[in-house]
Amino acid sequence: DEKEIQEFFDVAVSVARKAGEVVKEAFYKEKTIDTKSCGTDLVTETDQQVEALIIGALKEKFPSHSFIGEETVSSGGKCNLTNTPTWIIDPIDGTTNFVHKWDNSKELKINNWLLIVILQVTVVIGVVYNCIKDEMYTGRKGLGAFCNGVQLRCSSCTDLSSALGITELGASREPSEIEVRIRNFRRLAEEPARVHSIRMQGSAALNMCSVASGAADFYYEYGIHVWDIAAAGIIAEEAGATLVDPSGEPLDLMARRVLVTCNKTIAQEVAKYLECIDLPRD
Ligand code: IPD
Repeated sequence: DEKEIQEFFDVAVSVARKAGEVVKEAFYKEKTIDTKSCGTDLVTETDQQVEALIIGALKEKFPSHSFIGEETVSSGGKCNLTNTPTWIIDPIDGTTNFVHKWDNSKELKINNWLLIVILQVTVVIGVVYNCIKDEMYTGRKGLGAFCNGVQLRCSSCTDLSSALGITELGASREPSEIEVRIRNFRRLAEEPARVHSIRMQGSAALNMCSVASGAADFYYEYGIHVWDIAAAGIIAEEAGATLVDPSGEPLDLMARRVLVTCNKTIAQEVAKYLECIDLPRD
């Protein structure tokens, strides 16, 4: 019910702020770096520490809920979406940015982490906190999406040739996958698609929030996981975005691929140019 969801939301935002403080503090320090699925899939002790902090705080408040955490899953934990209220957690989305202290300008350092709760298979709240810039993105089913209290709306772009897109290289170095990524990139760059440009920001969540705020018109990626897209998904949706599978079919949160656009027209257009990569499900 509404009161309960309000409580989930308030707790999520306050836990996000606390975890953000830990990430921000660690951002400028030396890090212990390890790898997961391959040599370009990075993890730090802060990812693990912050995930434990978030899950610990949430479990204390909501002991009957379920949890899916990026780092817990990569160390052998379960990734089961059921009808139990479930929090899906990515402690640092943009670990590669975090490791490199990626610095666009002196101010802009990208570094998010996110939380979501799913109730009866519907995502009801999403929180993405960019702790370096102190930007709190939130979305709630039927109640809109906001960043620091300002309502978010997607752009009204309907012409792919004036669109700004975002994608990512991703962690996989499998040659056949890299080829598909390059072909997709080229098709979007060339006539007749000829998009204005394509960015790479290093965080799926931030990319989706960029579509939600109207800064970008589309984002697609293959190889992401449910924790990279679930929270930002509801934020984007509540800002008016269209979320589909890059084939144009309905989105499957566990299928490890996503296309987020400012509207349906751009979704259909982008999907025409994308060749899909099939990956093992989450
Ligand atoms: C990664 C980021 C990145 C995307 C990768 C994700 P992580 O998340 O979202 O932009 O290209 O596919 O794994 O590992 O830093 O949480």
